[in-house]
Amino acid sequence: MLASWNFVINSASDQAMSDQIKKADPCVMVIFGATGDLTKRKLFPALYNLAKGDFLPHTFAIVGVGRQEMTTEEFRSQVTANLREFIANGADEKLIGWFAERTYYTGGDFDDDKKLFADIKDLVGEVTVKHQIPDNYFYYLATPPALFANVTHKIVNNGMGKQENGNWRRFIFEKPFGHDLASAKQLNADLLKTIKEDQIYRIDHYLGKETVQNILVFRFGNSIFEPIWNRNFIDHVQITVAESLGVEQRGGYYDSAGALRDMIPNHIFQLVTLTAMEPPVSFEANAVRDEQAKILHAIQPFSPEDVLHCAVRGQYGDGVIGGAKVPGYRVEEKIAPFSNTETFAALKLSIDNWRWAGVPFYLRTGKRMPAKHSSIIIQFKAAPFVLFRDTSIEKLTTNRIVIHIQPDEGITLHFGAKVPGPIVNMGPVDMDFNYVDHFGEQVSTGYERLLFDCMIGDATLFQRADMVEAGWNIVTPILDVWNALPARDFPNYAAGTWGPPESTQLLERDGRAWKDLIDQTRTAPGNDPR
Ligand code: BG6
Repeated sequence: MLASWNFVINSASDQAMSDQIKKADPCVMVIFGATGDLTKRKLFPALYNLAKGDFLPHTFAIVGVGRQEMTTEEFRSQVTANLREFIANGADEKLIGWFAERTYYTGGDFDDDKKLFADIKDLVGEVTVKHQIPDNYFYYLATPPALFANVTHKIVNNGMGKQENGNWRRFIFEKPFGHDLASAKQLNADLLKTIKEDQIYRIDHYLGKETVQNILVFRFGNSIFEPIWNRNFIDHVQITVAESLGVEQRGGYYDSAGALRDMIPNHIFQLVTLTAMEPPVSFEANAVRDEQAKILHAIQPFSPEDVLHCAVRGQYGDGVIGGAKVPGYRVEEKIAPFSNTETFAALKLSIDNWRWAGVPFYLRTGKRMPAKHSSIIIQFKAAPFVLFRDTSIEKLTTNRIVIHIQPDEGITLHFGAKVPGPIVNMGPVDMDFNYVDHFGEQVSTGYERLLFDCMIGDATLFQRADMVEAGWNIVTPILDVWNALPARDFPNYAAGTWGPPESTQLLERDGRAWKDLIDQTRTAPGNDPR
């Protein structure tokens, strides 16, 4: 299949390329959980942005389904108000009107087998006739995960899941997909009872981020990086996904999940696999996902002893972020007062294959860190010092590539340069590429690309069943040890800091240190721990 991994075109001058982009088929999107936050903040704005860029089919309609009873008219006014609120850079009223005309709603009890699903079927039927849309539907399950299998079965049992006469039915599932290996396997098995793997799109919104997608282009579309992208040149890799926010209104979910489940087997493992995978034979969905899956299988499993040495957990207490006092986790809304849930996790992974043997991957993620910051740092080995023995240089600057995921998207190459002057001295300098400077501000929720890909049937940026299970397979032994040995020192880091001291020690034991992330692109001379 020809590069199904289409690139969304950003500028008018790319017209020739845009002609090659596969067009989305006319279709109906049915959103379960239509009155929720995700629909309001991400899905509708993403659809709007797609329409604005002419990526939505012109014959298109949306059917919202929620527990709340509401008329289509009421839902339309909600959608309109929300679009006005959540569209960055001023909303286009004509386009909002276009959306309102093709948005419908039906409400009821998701557990009810008959009424709600019969109503959905009738409504979708009416909508397809009215807007002259062929029977292509995709269902977006923005519901609690406990409902995924049930809602899917009801869709199918009501005759809305079968793909026939060239028409398609696709299902997008939000994360979390399971809460451990056993539940993920169960969910996969339950879904596969009534639908096929190629109808399933397990979403991970990290794959909708431009910089994440750029990892493959950067690695495989340039000839100078790949030859050195291995254990012969790379000392280690650091991946940080830090948030300054706490749990906000999601305490109910978060307290039963924790940082490890919430971020690592999904978002952070996407970053690991894209960074570590071998070049796929093409950008076809399974070619890319096969290579990602190989990395997940090559990650060495954690024994209980490894968990004690190579996994760190933390929970924030009160502290100060950006000059403002913030409360500790245990007093946040819907959090148990003696909760043992971790809000920070760090791991040292070993990828046991030819390319990466002996190159540790250090991962960390946490809430209430000093800043929102996600990056991947590829730290290269030092050059031999021999030539500099008789100079005033005491230590060589080591090279690193920093892939900035957010908030500033870009890539930095860090290297040493001679400090001007009569003596030989070296200082660390950076070469920076910043997306905004180069391509201008792109308005995106991160969901545009993923919704578009589902409409064109490209599952490359979605997780396959085996990948989800492989991810859980790695973290479940850690969760088991942490459950068996509840943390006794929580809270063990103050809000506004980079996690507990054990996180620093995880690298210090190996003679390394987490890079200073606050000003990663402008490293002060001398601040260059390996
Ligand atoms: C979600 C997690 O999947 O990702 C949240 O459930 C987290 O806890 C969020 O805050 C982070 O996403 P982003 O795009 O802001 O890095």
